[in-house]
Amino acid sequence: MFSIHILSRLFFVASLSSCATVTRSLQHDSPIPPSVPRLTDRFSHLPFDEAFSEFFGGPNVQRVSNGSYINLKLDNSSGSGFKSRSMYYYGFFSAAIKLPADYSAGVVVAFYMSNADVYPHNHDEIDFELLGHEKRKEWVLQTNIYGNGSVGTGREEKFYMWFDPTADFHEYSILWNSHHIVFLVDNIPVREVNRSVAMSRAYPSKPMSVYATIWDGSQWATHGGKKPVNYKFAPFVASLKDFEMEGCAWNQTKIAPPCPNNSQNSGLGLDPVGGQEFEELSDQQKVGMAWARNGFMFYSYCNDQNRFPVIPPECKEGK
Ligand SMILES: *[C@@H]1O[C@H](CO)[C@@H](O)[C@H](O)[C@H]1NC(C)=O
Ligand SMILES: *[C@@H]1O[C@H](CO)[C@@H](O)[C@H](O)[C@H]1NC(C)=O
Ligand SMILES: *[C@@H]1O[C@H](CO)[C@@H](O)[C@H](O)[C@H]1NC(C)=O
Ligand SMILES: *[C@@H]1O[C@H](CO)[C@@H](O)[C@H](O)[C@H]1NC(C)=O
Ligand SMILES: *[C@@H]1O[C@H](CO)[C@@H](O)[C@H](O)[C@H]1NC(C)=O
Ligand SMILES: *[C@@H]1O[C@H](CO)[C@@H](O)[C@H](O)[C@H]1NC(C)=O
Repeated sequence: MFSIHILSRLFFVASLSSCATVTRSLQHDSPIPPSVPRLTDRFSHLPFDEAFSEFFGGPNVQRVSNGSYINLKLDNSSGSGFKSRSMYYYGFFSAAIKLPADYSAGVVVAFYMSNADVYPHNHDEIDFELLGHEKRKEWVLQTNIYGNGSVGTGREEKFYMWFDPTADFHEYSILWNSHHIVFLVDNIPVREVNRSVAMSRAYPSKPMSVYATIWDGSQWATHGGKKPVNYKFAPFVASLKDFEMEGCAWNQTKIAPPCPNNSQNSGLGLDPVGGQEFEELSDQQKVGMAWARNGFMFYSYCNDQNRFPVIPPECKEGK
């Protein structure tokens, strides 16, 4: 992504060492998550070429089996990535991802939304970042958001996963509307960010593009940069499929999107993906989220008093 982004993470990773209460259940059989509604079943899968175009990396973006999935490769020549052809204002965005097997320290695989190209000084961003490790089962899932240029406050949360993310495809989904942002893994909500008064200035509320990338995060991704990418193990290959982007598609820049069911920035309009089930978490989803957070979350910016002597106000909500 870009340097200020990475700088803020350097501080962040340096302060991680105190987070020791980690569930190491991954050494054993994968635990069974509670059952939740499968939001990903509500939307159709988009053909890659219709929905996306290359972002960088040229030949390292590869269509496999007649486009039934896409491989993104990182080797000593380049990382790679693709980007949605349209921008979206709210919606549901999902991809099934299988991470590189074996040694992957320093490697970052990201599925995210951003408008930094259109709003360089006050951009919005919603991130899934998968951080490689020396041992294949210890990939870390990091979530983060920036709203309206709030890059001075990294709102990271980090999780271990309850499955081996290199063995098969798993669904990583972002629900973003005028009520909340929900990060879901295999339809289990792992994080909810409400559009509350405390969050209103930093709540992403301008159209964004959808990206998937693989890149060299040697300086920060693994143990605060102590384990850089080792190209002896290259190429690192992430596979992606089952793309869903159900939102208000928007192609122009810097004018209100022509979506009848949106009223820009007011939060009063209906969302492109509307209805009760998208506006608030069901009891079942809350059970799933508590399960994921209690069992697998090992870092939240809300608990990091080294970084935030004054805890950000939104952290006091929902408690
Ligand atoms: C490849 O995909 C295209 C477009 O989806 C389809 O028309 C074609 O039949 C496929 N070819 C094979 C060999 O499956
Ligand atoms: C990059 O990798 C290729 C293939 O493994 C190797 O032949 C080449 O020497 C490497 N180049 C550099 C600059 O390390
Ligand atoms: C946006 O523009 C791209 C490229 O010109 C086009 O492929 C896509 O269909 C457009 N999307 C919408 C919603 O107009
Ligand atoms: C977003 O940032 C711009 C430019 O810095 C500012 O004018 C605007 O008021 C901000 N919007 C919100 C909702 O804070
Ligand atoms: C907005 O969405 C609702 C429900 O999806 C639909 O009934 C309504 O006709 C839409 N409004 C407009 C102006 O398209
Ligand atoms: C978000 O808002 C809902 C409804 O007010 C509340 O039940 C929930 O706990 C809030 N979530 C967080 C993370 O604060």
